[in-house]
Amino acid sequence: MESEVSERLIDVARAAMGRAYCPYSKFHVGAALEAEDGSVFAGCNVENASYGGTICAERTAYVTAVAAGHRKFTRIAITSDADDPVAPCGFCRQLLAEFGTQLEVISVGAKGGRLKWRLSELLPSAFTGADFMEDA
Ligand code: THU
Repeated sequence: MESEVSERLIDVARAAMGRAYCPYSKFHVGAALEAEDGSVFAGCNVENASYGGTICAERTAYVTAVAAGHRKFTRIAITSDADDPVAPCGFCRQLLAEFGTQLEVISVGAKGGRLKWRLSELLPSAFTGADFMEDA
């Protein structure tokens, strides 16, 4: 059951890769974010001529899910053109941490290799709202 869910997420991430807008890097990334109620949100990287304006696949998935009313997430699958699984970048780790550091992160490389982490392993000692807000 657990692994079937992951396969579905990975399929959604792979499909999202095909929609990546990456004319500069030509590096396609797809993400599929599962919300606590089981709904899934896809994301792809969206690049910009002003390179710093680029949005990663993981953040695209998150902003789409949050805009649809979700704030609690169980796992995210990430796929890319790289032979080996890629870990989310630092910007993405911070955004992901905003919504919970227990998130399961599954990454799949183009050669099929897989890695799995808790977000808390990728961003230990995360700075969150709980550090300065009493009700966070
Ligand atoms: N990228 C992602 O979408 N997610 C990651 O975790 C790493 C990097 C994108 C950003 C940019 O469009 C391209 O990959 C190369 O950095």
